[in-house]
Amino acid sequence: MPLRSKIIGTGSYLPEKIIDNVDLERKVDTSDEWITERTGIKQRRVVRDGETSSDLCLEASKRALLAAGMEAKDVELVIVATMSGDMPMPSTASILQNRLGATHAGAFDLNAACSGFIYGLSVADNFIKGGTFSNILLVGAEVNSRFLDWSDRKTCVLFGDGAGAVVLKSTRGRSGILSTHIYSDGRLWDYICVPGGGASHPPTMETVKKGMHFIKMRGHETFKVAVKTLEKLVVDTLKANKIKPSDLAMLIPHQANLRIITATARRLNLPMEKVAVNLDKYGNTSSASIPIALDEVVREGRLKKNEYVMLEAFGGGLTWASAMIRW
Ligand code: ACO
Repeated sequence: MPLRSKIIGTGSYLPEKIIDNVDLERKVDTSDEWITERTGIKQRRVVRDGETSSDLCLEASKRALLAAGMEAKDVELVIVATMSGDMPMPSTASILQNRLGATHAGAFDLNAACSGFIYGLSVADNFIKGGTFSNILLVGAEVNSRFLDWSDRKTCVLFGDGAGAVVLKSTRGRSGILSTHIYSDGRLWDYICVPGGGASHPPTMETVKKGMHFIKMRGHETFKVAVKTLEKLVVDTLKANKIKPSDLAMLIPHQANLRIITATARRLNLPMEKVAVNLDKYGNTSSASIPIALDEVVREGRLKKNEYVMLEAFGGGLTWASAMIRW
């Protein structure tokens, strides 16, 4: 039997504060009707003052470790997929490692925007299959609300905050991660970006005044590339594993836009009961969206042993990624 990595515990955490579409109608020129029709989002969670990415990571990780029956001190590696970490340096993973008491673990962050969780899954899977580690804590966490221009209706209605975590363990058997697929087209890097704050435009009064520390997105152009790319990605991922669409028990897509999700499901002829959707409640939580949705699906008992589940995502970079899992 081949060495595989298997998800043995999931957990998630959403901040308590809710901002719904009607709240946003009071901030910008938008409407509940526009946001619902164009995106499927009804509300999103945002952190309270002082709450950070590592706070969200900590709660989600504790829940995943509890579900896995594992103690933090036994974790060998902590990976946090995020584009909104506590600070540029050190990594949020190192802050989490300390707060969790994962004293024996290495730790690093990974940024592939909304595809970050699946990129992280790919890295973790390869560390495990290569025999370097036998268990890994992988978290996707975002505090997008701190990087939004709340006067820009094109972005502020889309994003939310949250975290999801999984514990991966090495195993021999038929179930576990069957394949991961990661891609990027850096020519389109400026479709989604936060232009300021890095070495190109370090923070100055000028960058702050120009709003360069906020998420900018060419939404319509991104939408068109996302639909086309994801339709191909899901078909290729099934082919790579010789699995028919009708054999899929669940599709867990990144939660950016309901129209993108339904287009992908339609391409596979999948009924929407087999597709995880929670963007109505949480908006786009970037790298946290897939592990949050996975945790909900698992806790609702919607995945049975040996069933096939596909994860897929698309985001800044541009990046896109998928994973096929036998549960
Ligand atoms: N309320 C009301 N009107 C709005 C709003 C709003 N919140 N936002 C935009 N509009 C207006 C625009 O100004 C435009 O008006 P105009 O025609 O007078 O110029 C009109 O609505 C249509 O705008 P579009 O941008 O063409 O609208 P679209 O149907 O494409 O929806 C959206 C926009 C929701 C952003 C969509 O394009 C989308 O979901 N894109 C993909 C997002 C994505 O997948 N991102 C990847 C992950 S994110 C990451 O990695 C960080």
